[in-house]
Amino acid sequence: MRHLIDPLDFTKEETEELLVLSEDIRRNPEKYQDKCAHKKIATLFYEPSTRTRLSFESAMINLGGSVIGFSSANSSSASKGESVADTIRVISAFADITAIRHPKEGAPMRASMFSSIPVINAGDGGHQHPTQTLADLATIRRRKGRLNNLVIGLCGDLKFGRTVHSLIKSISRWDGIKFVLISPTELKVPDYIINEVLKPNNIEFEETTDLEDALGKLDILYMTRVQKERFFNEEDYVRLKDSYILTEKKMELAKEDMAVLHPLPRVNEIALAVDKDPRAAYFEQVQNGMYVREALILKLLNLA
Ligand code: CP
Repeated sequence: MRHLIDPLDFTKEETEELLVLSEDIRRNPEKYQDKCAHKKIATLFYEPSTRTRLSFESAMINLGGSVIGFSSANSSSASKGESVADTIRVISAFADITAIRHPKEGAPMRASMFSSIPVINAGDGGHQHPTQTLADLATIRRRKGRLNNLVIGLCGDLKFGRTVHSLIKSISRWDGIKFVLISPTELKVPDYIINEVLKPNNIEFEETTDLEDALGKLDILYMTRVQKERFFNEEDYVRLKDSYILTEKKMELAKEDMAVLHPLPRVNEIALAVDKDPRAAYFEQVQNGMYVREALILKLLNLA
């Protein structure tokens, strides 16, 4: 039995297969509409979510299956002190597969150690978010026609942004990737990403605080929200939250075929006016997320 806890749990080739499968599901939904008949997904969300939880649930419903779960720790027995290890043993008796979001880094990994069903990490603290990465890869592939030979700017909260960490880990496996890491000094990408991912794999990268300066060289701009919930004090959050705001004016500096991605939710970091720019890809990214989650469910249940 396999789980998806870290983006590298699936090889590059397997990741490509998932993306191809997600495209087939998009084009031929009727082929897949009964694949998960009588199967259940449990969505165990100890942290808030709109996209990830509802796209997992939509994905399972599209495949003919059904959904159980909870959307906050307060509405589960976690509020009475139940451990993740005990919860997953219980859920294993009810469901065929589970997606877990938890504020503690490593919680989905711990769940997988006690689970008798496949566990999907739906975001653990400031650590990883591998299914968002699948949505990101699908979006880049659809927009650019490739996952190699790209200059990718990652902008905003690179310290706590788990989607950033997962995307860097995953897409670094394709050739010719260069990263421009754009953040305030306090929100730089963690050292482990530099020392365990970028440097050992000889991935070209530069760090800067200047979005305008970087914009003209990017094929992809991946904007992120400053993660208020991970800050230890409000004062630091308020000081840093509007460090970068992508505006129509700044978009004039970008290539005509650059794509703007954002895992969402957005706060202020992309002006609403940018939404109508054809380079804005963040709402299609959400829909791509549903199809890749369908593909992932099929793969983990050995139905594809
Ligand atoms: N991108 C993402 O994880 O969004 P949610 O927090 O709404 O699930």
